[in-house]
Amino acid sequence: MMDSAGASSKRSDEKSLESGGHNHKNHFFHLVLRISLLFLAVVPACLVLYHSLNSFQFFPNSLYNPSASSQDSARGIISSLAKDDPALVRVLKEAAMTDKTVIITTLNEAWAAPNSIFELFIRSFGIGNQTQGLLNHLLVVALDQTAYARCLALHKYCYTLNTPDIDFSSEAHFMSTDYLKMMWRRIDFLRSVLDIGYNFIFTDNDIMWLRDPFPRFYPDADFQIACDHFFGDSFDLNNWPNGGFNYVKSSKRTIEFYKFWYDSRDKYPGKHDQDVLNMIKFDPFIREIGLQIRFLDTAYFGGFCEPSKDLNLVCTMHANCCVGLDNKIHDLTILLEDWRKYMSSPTNKSATPESSWSPRRCR
Ligand SMILES: *[C@@H]1O[C@H](CO)[C@@H](O)[C@H](O)[C@H]1NC(C)=O
Ligand SMILES: *[C@@H]1O[C@H](CO)[C@@H](O)[C@H](O)[C@H]1NC(C)=O
Repeated sequence: MMDSAGASSKRSDEKSLESGGHNHKNHFFHLVLRISLLFLAVVPACLVLYHSLNSFQFFPNSLYNPSASSQDSARGIISSLAKDDPALVRVLKEAAMTDKTVIITTLNEAWAAPNSIFELFIRSFGIGNQTQGLLNHLLVVALDQTAYARCLALHKYCYTLNTPDIDFSSEAHFMSTDYLKMMWRRIDFLRSVLDIGYNFIFTDNDIMWLRDPFPRFYPDADFQIACDHFFGDSFDLNNWPNGGFNYVKSSKRTIEFYKFWYDSRDKYPGKHDQDVLNMIKFDPFIREIGLQIRFLDTAYFGGFCEPSKDLNLVCTMHANCCVGLDNKIHDLTILLEDWRKYMSSPTNKSATPESSWSPRRCR
């Protein structure tokens, strides 16, 4: 999430497609529905694949495929086109680590502008401890053409996610209709990455990467996620997850889970993915599919909601609990400055309490 959980708005123009719990009747109904939809989806998907393969030849040096958008719009925003997109398959292959893990962030015009969040994000990898090399595995998913161009100027792996009829370029205000669509589009896209067979770390770009996170991940979890508030037990479903940072391994379980998460948006209209995750995390369906969820300690994966207190431990810091682009930029700039001082300081590195993060506007 770009912002803290809690705020939410109801949209009156949407009706819940379901009511009540996720019981077995519902389940069976869903299965039948899903199979029928799958069948319906196969024919157009083949056509689209054929079409995009054709048009792709005209844009050999660019991953941007303008002709895909007209195809997409006929099918609405919620398409599974990305899975069939050869440009996506190619860029995933190029960016992935040897174990098929890729770091993914999404970018829109407002966050991509010069001196905005994206620059700070890229800069953090440069001044983090041994994080520079991770940029070789970062895939930036641009939500509009300006963001795509900006990505190409600063980074090597950029991909445009075509989402016709929606303008994601401006600062989408927290919980606005466009904001919600952007968040849900992201969940659908990440599901397709898992479907293609890649593991990912999803990271918002208002998260500063200060250390390599891999040593802090749980080796056996399917889905591990950072928290706004961490209560001390990584298994405890009562932790407050933050959708802005998670590490997900591609498997049948995680693909099923992402589908379930995405489909649950109809059950909770007007809620963003993080709120819905908080509701579905207790759902028996999660246990049925055997998904192993773990919550990441804010000592390593902190944020303005709950900062990593020890600079010797921190891996990432998120500008969560902070509303407004200017406030985020202001405080993240200070945070990177604090980090730079810490890294270049010849003084005692074990004496770095919370107070070593400077006062900020956020919080
Ligand atoms: C940076 O990483 C190296 C290698 O892991 C480690 O030896 C060093 O202590 C780290 N420095 C800091 C400030 O964490
Ligand atoms: C560094 O700081 C810690 C905690 O304040 C202290 O226990 C330790 O003796 C200090 N080490 C040095 C070399 O000054």
